[in-house]
Amino acid sequence: MSRANWGSRLGFILAASGSAVGLGAIWKFPYVAGKNGGGVFLLAYLACVFTVGIALLLAEMVIGRAANRSATTAFRDLKGGLWPWAGRLSVLCIFIVMAYYSVVGGWVIAYIGKSITGEALGQDTKALGAAFTHFIADPASSLFYTALFLGVTVAVVLGGVQKGIERMSKVLMPALFLLMLVLIARSLTLPGALEGVRYFLTPDFSKLTSAMVVDALGLAFFSLSLGMGIIISYGSYVEKETNLAGATLWISILATLASVLAGFMVLPAVFAFGVDPAAGPGLTFITMPAIFAQMPFGQAWAIAFFLLLLFAALTSSVSIVEPIVSYFIDEFGWKRQSAAYITTVAVFIASIPAALSFGPMAKSKLFGRTAFDLMDYATSNIMMPAGGILVAVFAGWIIWPRIHSELLSNGGGHWIPAFRGICAIVAPIMIGVIWVHNL
Ligand code: PHE
Repeated sequence: MSRANWGSRLGFILAASGSAVGLGAIWKFPYVAGKNGGGVFLLAYLACVFTVGIALLLAEMVIGRAANRSATTAFRDLKGGLWPWAGRLSVLCIFIVMAYYSVVGGWVIAYIGKSITGEALGQDTKALGAAFTHFIADPASSLFYTALFLGVTVAVVLGGVQKGIERMSKVLMPALFLLMLVLIARSLTLPGALEGVRYFLTPDFSKLTSAMVVDALGLAFFSLSLGMGIIISYGSYVEKETNLAGATLWISILATLASVLAGFMVLPAVFAFGVDPAAGPGLTFITMPAIFAQMPFGQAWAIAFFLLLLFAALTSSVSIVEPIVSYFIDEFGWKRQSAAYITTVAVFIASIPAALSFGPMAKSKLFGRTAFDLMDYATSNIMMPAGGILVAVFAGWIIWPRIHSELLSNGGGHWIPAFRGICAIVAPIMIGVIWVHNL
């Protein structure tokens, strides 16, 4: 089978960072950092990204390129045995991720509408919080917007417009970063904002708990799209000449930059407006509208922000749905269209409990968590790190000679022993210790 390649190294970096930069950075990072003590969480997050995160990103890319196949098939072709199960596990994981990602993507679509009508903006964060809570509790609109986000994602996957999306991301991603800079400027100049900066930048080590470190590790995986085979399938389209180490560095820097910028955008405003930093998943949706209300042409800024956020979310959600669809095509020989429709219906059914978690099913809990929280926790904090251990062991031990020669043919580097050390020893031990400690 001959496979298409990315048009250029830039195209590959854009696609992989498009997958990485999304709701994870802008919706999830600020509220998880807010909940976990700010500065100390930032430190733990950066520590996870720039050790285990960056090494696994490279490992997944190299596995993908060596096999020239997507995850499950790559594991089978390179080693076989039980290894293809690592690929199947990752398909299950991204399936669950998509089910609750669609719910949050739906909130973004709804907030575009609310920005156009002006309803989303307001001075009073108590009222904004109440409006958000009221909105996500409504079962009919939650399901409607979840389906809409899922529908748009699948339309992109089926419409063959992914190349077009990548081209657009060359313009729209920088636009999102620039817009964030403007919003940061507004957020930082609010009276009382410095308290938020201090919260975000000064680590308070009394807040260092194992649950916090598990959250940091989980968010590192989530925000880099790691541990789910996504980067493996992206890597399979990279040409042999592309320097993967350089690309890895770029992608991790862009993804962390987006998270850190989102922190600087949201947390100072949280303190300026007297919102509880531990308010949870609504944090970005409550504070941003209050920032817009403090800006000239606030409504226009709001529309631009939620539109760009939707675009960033779509470049991520497409990267989640595509591997599920190709799994059914590659493994079972389904037609692309039927695979896409069946995936959509299945994801939608799985998303129903997540969409209802803030309303009718708010009290239905398993392990003390709502369906939404449980899906989030089980994927980010358990399945992705588990996938990470498998990739690390696979690259660092099982097929190391292959990985090594792949890296050498790519120019090599003094960092190769460090890379192997992280894959073979540091990553499995670090993830294992963090988990055990948390139990
Ligand atoms: N990294 C994406 C984000 O931060 C989410 C994602 C998770 C994408 C898992 C692919 C796989 O929004």
